[in-house]
Parts: sequence; C-alpha cells; structure tokens
Amino acid sequence: MTSSRTDPTAWWRAAVTYQVYPRSFADGDGDGVGDIAGIRSRLPYIRDLGVDAIWLNPWYPSPMADAGYDVADYRAIDPLFGTLTEAEALIAEARALDLRVLLDVVPNHLSSAHAWFRAALAAGPGSRERERFLFRPGRGDGSQPPNDWESVFGGSAWTRVREPDGRPGEWYLHLFDPGQPDLNWREADVRAEFESVLRFWFDRGVDGFRIDVANGLHKHQDLPDLGERSGRPGDEAEADHPFWDRDTVHEVYREWRRVADSYPDPKMFVAEAWVPTPDRLARYVRPDHLHSAFNFDYLTTPWRAALLRASIDEALAALTAVSAEPTWVLSNHDVVRVVSRLGLPQPNERNWVLELDDETADPDLDLGTRRARAAALLMLALPGGAYVYQGEELGLWEVLDLPDEMLADPIWERSGHARRGRDGARVPLPWATDGNSFGFGPSDGAQPWLPQPAAWAAMAAERQAGDPTSMLELYRSALRIRREHPGLGSGPMRWRDAPNGVLSIEREGGFLLVANVEGPSVELPSHREVLLASGPLDGPRLPPNTAVWLQT
Ligand code: NOJ
Repeated sequence: MTSSRTDPTAWWRAAVTYQVYPRSFADGDGDGVGDIAGIRSRLPYIRDLGVDAIWLNPWYPSPMADAGYDVADYRAIDPLFGTLTEAEALIAEARALDLRVLLDVVPNHLSSAHAWFRAALAAGPGSRERERFLFRPGRGDGSQPPNDWESVFGGSAWTRVREPDGRPGEWYLHLFDPGQPDLNWREADVRAEFESVLRFWFDRGVDGFRIDVANGLHKHQDLPDLGERSGRPGDEAEADHPFWDRDTVHEVYREWRRVADSYPDPKMFVAEAWVPTPDRLARYVRPDHLHSAFNFDYLTTPWRAALLRASIDEALAALTAVSAEPTWVLSNHDVVRVVSRLGLPQPNERNWVLELDDETADPDLDLGTRRARAAALLMLALPGGAYVYQGEELGLWEVLDLPDEMLADPIWERSGHARRGRDGARVPLPWATDGNSFGFGPSDGAQPWLPQPAAWAAMAAERQAGDPTSMLELYRSALRIRREHPGLGSGPMRWRDAPNGVLSIEREGGFLLVANVEGPSVELPSHREVLLASGPLDGPRLPPNTAVWLQT
C-alpha cells in the first residue's frame, strides 16, 4: 500500500516547502532587486537543499505599495521580476527538478491600480463597478469614516475618494494599505474572477497556491464598529468577529477545492490564516475544504518545552479530528527571523507576536543560532509538512539597523514611524563571500534594494556549503535523512518520558528526537546511532539548546 508519505496524489502531506521571496532571493539582471532570472539560476541550490516544493511570494504587476501584495493584474508578471514567458520557464524547470511550485494568490484585496478599482472610481456611487468593493458613505456630514476599523498597518481602514465630479465622496475599505482596496466577496463577479485566475496558473503547471489573508474575505454585512475588540489578526477568539475568520468564508474554499479537484494532477492550497486557536485553524482544512494551513500557533510559541509540547499536541488533536495533516513553520517574510527571535529572553506564554521596534533590542545571536538549529531538528522530526523561509537555512538574522530612508514596508509610514515593519526579515540573501552584494546580483550590478550586513560574508551559501558545522549543511543533512527515514514525514508520533525542559519524540522505524529546550545537560537515551545533532554533544550527554536525532 502507498503511504500518504509517498503517495504522489497527496504529496503536500509530508512536503517541505521552501519559501522564495523573489525580490530578495537572487538578482539576475543586476538592478538590485531579485527576479525570475535569479531564481532560475538558483533552482539547483533549492533542489540540493532537499525540499519538495517552492512557494513564490507575489510576482504580479504591482505598484508595490505592499511589496507586491497589491496586485494590479493577476495574470501577468511585474517587469521588475521578468515576463510571463520566463515565469512559465521557471515553472517547467522547477518541475523538471522534481520541485512542485506554489504561487501566492491574494484574494482579500487587489491594487488600487487594478482595472476594476479604476473602473469603480470612474463609475461613481451606486454603480455595479463599486459593488465589487466595500464603498460606503462617511458618517456625519460624510467626512468621518463609516466605522472604527483600523488598518493592520496602522491608521483608519477607510480612505475617502474624490468622485468623478471632483467632490470628496464615498469611502472604501482597506484592511491593509490604502493601495489595497478590499474586495466584496458577496459579488458573483469576484468569485468567478478568482476561479479563473486559479485556472490560469493551474493550466500553466502550477501545483498550488498559498492563500493570502485567507481568514479575511468575508466581512459582517453591516460592517459594525469594533468597539473594544481587537482588529489584529489572530487576537480574537470569537466566532463573530466583523472581519476575521467568519464562518461563511469557508464557502469560498469549498468552491476552490472543486476547482483544484477538477485537474488530473493533484493541486493544493495552503491557507495563511492568523486565527486564535488550532481548532479554528482546523476548520480551514476540513474534508472538501483546503488541503493545508500554516501553523502560526507553532511559529508564535516561545522556546519553552512545555509550551512547545502543548502547541504540538493541540495542533495534532485539532487536525487529526478533521483528517488533515499538520504543518510547522519557524519563520516567513512577515515575522522576525528565527535566530533573532530565539536569541531574546523567551516569555512563558504562547501567541508571542514579536515586533523588534525597540532599537535597544539586542538578541544574543549565538544563543539564537544554537536554538534555531535545535528548532530546525525538532520541526523536521514532527509529523506532516514544513515550511522553510529563504535564509533560514543560512542562519540569517533579523537586520535591525536598516537606514530609516530605505524602509519600504508600508507599516513604517502608516504607523507614523512608530513601527519599523518587516524589512529586517527581507534583506537580500548572501550567496558569495565577496562582491558588492555578496553574489545576490552580478558583480557589476547595482547595490541590493536593502543593504546586507557586512557580517553576512560569513553567512554566504558558498562559504557554508561543505562545512559540516554550518546551518546550511545541518538543513541539507536533516532534509536528506527526512527523505530517507521511513518514520519521518507523515505518520504517527509518540512522546517519550523526558526530564523537565526536554522533549523526546518517537517516530516509527526506531527514530527518536531529543531536544533539550530548557534543561541542564541530560544523559542521552540508549541508541544505536546518532543520525544528526544540532550542535556538539558532551560525550553521552545532550547540552542545553541542542537537539539530536537518534536511531534506536
Ligand atoms: C500577508 C502577507 O504575508 C503580508 O506580507 C501582506 O502584507 C498581507 N498579507 C497583506 O496582503
């Protein structure tokens, strides 16, 4: 019998997916911004890392008000990144290397430069074109926003437009930047358009989509004030929040599932849904809904043994109840890089959503690196799929000293410079030890769009390759063993008794993980072979902040 681990029709169940953030991955044309040519040239690196799939952040034409999450045309490529022909070549080349390809679909909002929004502005109040969005008259004399909702990036979630006759007029909703007007998912047009967009890319060989803001598409019909409630994604544990995680949003995904299932090759979706509990997350991956969802509960769990164990148990229980496979993730382009996060004092509660705005924040990078190495072995030993954000495999840290004038994240401006935003996690990768961009672009190319720390010469992929003590080789070894070991990937796990502060997980085929999260050094359990260790062992003992894979 084929297990789900090797079943090609359910490849995502155990897949490790590598997240490529195109503008910061590799710059082929030398303009200082990463592009498709750069990604194509580095596909062998991704294949050699040993992952199963890549997920590409948005590459569509965009004014870049939010780094491409403001899409002006869902069926084309921004010239900054290349052309549709190059995109098709990339998809084919990745598939030829046995890498599945996931794109990012952004259905909650589009760009204010999209033809639909321009048509809505031109057509004026009461028009069908405006029905595709959430336009409302203002309160009072019309000069106040229709309700009290705030944008995730700061400031009101409403912007007033000038009507075609030149007068100030209606307001439109944007849960994010004003350049990202929210769509009205009650409109049949909107639903049909996105199904067509999915097909456009599925027809070009794409294997699946990561769904941006999957929990935000449906808003309460009356758009009621939030009052005392939080508007931050994932904060609210209530079913009837006016815009997050509304029960009806799942109707959309049942339709999308039908689109995916209409293809002979297995197509899949992964939801970006910041929801408060694993149970709420499980609703997205019920049978006939989406295939998988990011596990942000795990990402926001501090390096604390009891909290990690609780997060793992709750995810397994909630997802098993709906026959879905869990996934695990340590970082992405929206959060503080894992080395920096784990280099800080760890709080003693879950849902740790960290922003490093405080210039005095001073993560201990050596400690963070030791923990990140152990965290990688823990994550990759868990049942199900995993996501690795580019640069995580190089041990890159959050860049905290980017010059103010280079910050591109809309959070910086929208928050009145109170929050620095996410650029520190988006600094271009170092590939080589020298050159003006450490090999990110050609040696005579422009400076990278964000400056790399000088210390990243030592983090370059070429420097780490072949060094058995490097983060890169740790990931390569772990991913190789994960592919080969019959107990890893999908399948059962069992906790073993372990001293306080230590996690010990058994998988089939005699595999044992021991992660010393908080304890003092502990004796290793009896074993036949050490398959892989995240750091030096102390003879028969496992030092703190170290994990080991054992064959028993
Ligand atoms: C989530 C994306 O990951 C983030 O980068 C973006 O700013 C928001 N969604 C809005 O699209």
